Amino acid sequence: MIERTLVMIKPDGVQRNLIGKVISIFEEKGLRVVALKKLRLTKDQAKAFYIVHKERPFYEDLTNYMSSGPIVAMVLEGESAITRVREIMGATDPKEAKEGTIRKLFGLDKEKNTVHGSDSPESAQREIAFFFSEQELLAVD
Ligand code: RTP
Ligand code: MG
Repeated sequence: MIERTLVMIKPDGVQRNLIGKVISIFEEKGLRVVALKKLRLTKDQAKAFYIVHKERPFYEDLTNYMSSGPIVAMVLEGESAITRVREIMGATDPKEAKEGTIRKLFGLDKEKNTVHGSDSPESAQREIAFFFSEQELLAVD
């Protein structure tokens, strides 16, 4: 099934000039960019985005980190895009990520792991709407 998913290039990726390299990896795997923007989250926006993790011990650090510098948010579209993107990103901890995954290639540690991808259809729908209006989602026709 053709799906859409929300991807972020996290502050460590933007800071190290990896925007193009990360997008290229997704494009080479057949995913298409249907929306794209660079922005900086406020602390409150980061807390809202990651609200599902509010009880986790890493919530405070994560939301400080995600609001520490610019990010790139994008919507990717393709066959089974949600699981495909998760596979291409690799495990949360770069040390455990498989060879060739984005987090293995570029991740610094379990927090500064370069990319985010939605983990389910429900998350994708919520996360896409967090960043983009309907008019900003432009598929190739
Ligand atoms: P993401 O949501 O960013 O795509 O990552 P994920 O599903 O692989 O991992 P998740 O469990 O949802 O955690 C969200 C993000 O929180 C940071 N984290 N830090 N210090 C820690 O133990 C820890 N655990 C998670 C990471 O930035 C992770 O991607
Ligand atoms: Mg997650």
